[in-house]
Amino acid sequence: MLIRCAALLLLVSCLQGCGREAGEAGGAAVTDPGRDYFSFANTGQFETRHLDLELNVDFDRRVLEGHVIHRMACLDSAADRILLDTRGLQVARVQLAPAASVARDLDFEVGESDPVRGEALRIALPRDFECDGEFLLKIDYRTGPGASAIMWLPPELTAGGEQPFMFTQSQPIHARSWVPLQDTPSVRITYEAVIRTPANLLAVMSANNDPLVPRDGEYRFLMPQPIPSYLLALAVGDLYFEPFGEDTGVYAEAAVLPAAAWEFADTQAMLDAAEAIYGPYQWGRYDLLILPPSFPYGGMENPRLSFITPSLLAGDRSLVSVIAHELAHSWSGNLVSNRTWRDIWLNEGTTSYLEARLMEVLYGKERANEERVLTYQSLLEDLATVPPEMQPLAPVFESGDPDVGQQGMQYAKGQMLLEHLESVFGRESFDAFMAAYFDHFAFQAIGSEQFLDYIDERLLQAMPGRYTRQQLEEWLYRPGLPAERTEPRSRNLDAAAAEARAWASGELPVDKLSIKQWSPQATVYFIKALPAGLDSARLSELDSALGFSGSRNAVIARAWFIEVARRRFEPAYDRMRGHLARWGRTWLIEPVYAALANNGRDRALALEIFEQARSGYHPLTIAAIQPLLGAGAEP
Ligand code: BES
Ligand code: ZN
Repeated sequence: MLIRCAALLLLVSCLQGCGREAGEAGGAAVTDPGRDYFSFANTGQFETRHLDLELNVDFDRRVLEGHVIHRMACLDSAADRILLDTRGLQVARVQLAPAASVARDLDFEVGESDPVRGEALRIALPRDFECDGEFLLKIDYRTGPGASAIMWLPPELTAGGEQPFMFTQSQPIHARSWVPLQDTPSVRITYEAVIRTPANLLAVMSANNDPLVPRDGEYRFLMPQPIPSYLLALAVGDLYFEPFGEDTGVYAEAAVLPAAAWEFADTQAMLDAAEAIYGPYQWGRYDLLILPPSFPYGGMENPRLSFITPSLLAGDRSLVSVIAHELAHSWSGNLVSNRTWRDIWLNEGTTSYLEARLMEVLYGKERANEERVLTYQSLLEDLATVPPEMQPLAPVFESGDPDVGQQGMQYAKGQMLLEHLESVFGRESFDAFMAAYFDHFAFQAIGSEQFLDYIDERLLQAMPGRYTRQQLEEWLYRPGLPAERTEPRSRNLDAAAAEARAWASGELPVDKLSIKQWSPQATVYFIKALPAGLDSARLSELDSALGFSGSRNAVIARAWFIEVARRRFEPAYDRMRGHLARWGRTWLIEPVYAALANNGRDRALALEIFEQARSGYHPLTIAAIQPLLGAGAEP
């Protein structure tokens, strides 16, 4: 059955992909799970080993301008052109061997624009080009308006309100909008960079940031460990630094720095805990960068410097699982990377598993289980809406957009798989397996099939009779969840849900709720457990007693305002507007907009709030919310 299913998937993908030419046209003769359908680069013929970047950060024109030098290896003597990924870049000049006396200008052309992949940069090699080892390729360019990786913030959208700010978000395929390169996780590069900024601002990158660097507007970086292009990152702003420990610290604007230093003080302990289970941290320093509220994610695991939303600053350290998550990527994702975006569960599922383990070491089993249950709950919700063909951990994924679609489900289902394996093989054996896995594939990119072969040999066959390859394949290639799985349980969350029901039925008065002792996670679960049909008076009673609408915790506010919108609890609409205007992290606001748009009455209101708030949102956030509201593109 499984085999037939795989064959069927092959056929379906063949209908989309067969017949296209190999190479830039974006399709092999038959579907190929190892191929990156979201890159134009001819990586079988050339591979970049090192990038040398020199860029001016021009806030007035909102462009990065300068050059990149690729140190490339030629792998195929039949190759006569180099294909790179770009999106909206203005390429001025391409030179071969720029440093040598025989430097030559090369002909190039920018291909037609694909809405997802951008444009191929096709560079013609001279007839006498000799394919023997490495060579240098220099490209002078500047970024285009609306570069998809870059957000340029005016001072009003920062905490200090005086200086502009910019940051990049390269994952999954946006690096190509600020550097012409082979934008695929299957190629790893080291890099160095010179970044020039206005003199009073500080530049930081996913590289060797020096907390004591003089703020003179010229910053030099080196990244000696090879990384995939999606981990290239740059931010520039009025940033300051505060250490946590010897090798850890946080960058933020001055107004945010003390709160961030307090909130994330456990970062060093998290790093120590991760090393104790999964082996040495391979990247040198580990710092955090707190971004302005428009940062579209909870966090982004840029190596040596995780980018973090300020919405985690709840004042009680309750949202630090996002830090555990981004830190865990230093093993799962950054050290061992997904080969293509089809295999993203190898990054995100594995990281979600590690995240929960770190939470357990730092804050205990019950706290970790609370988060596991919330994740499981959202997985069940996702499985009801994600189309079946995208539900396998390793789906056929050759068209569509890696920014859309997969996401949340791959995190939670991947986490469940690893938690199930842990329970089958025992924690000790499974930890040893994971540490060996990170070591074995360190600084490589792998696909789901390599994972399957490795675990089959090193775990299933090493401890025979416990789990079969077919059982694993069911997770990877079938929709839904296998019947045998290990479901998380949390006593605290069960109690919170029971109180929600008891209060709703009138058995338990609001002043007898034990919420004061609950974690924010239990509070979220309580809110989600409120039954349908509560009228406005009852919701008011709850809100006045528990202060949900005024919660300082953005995750509690999210859960509450989803219910507010769904139930049309109008007394809280002003506060809901406040939440939607304050945060740009997509996950915090998109479901509130969706609930408003779908409650039967408030689509126009949702659109009005969105139009007012959108200048503070990241383009990715706008792209996620706009379709829910039927909103048009910006005039
Ligand atoms: N790497 C992801 C963010 C991402 C994934 C960006 C895919 C673009 C494409 C990051 O590590 C992440 O998972 N962030 C989550 C954290 C949460 C699950 C703890 C987020 O932003 O919510
Ligand atoms: Zn992640």
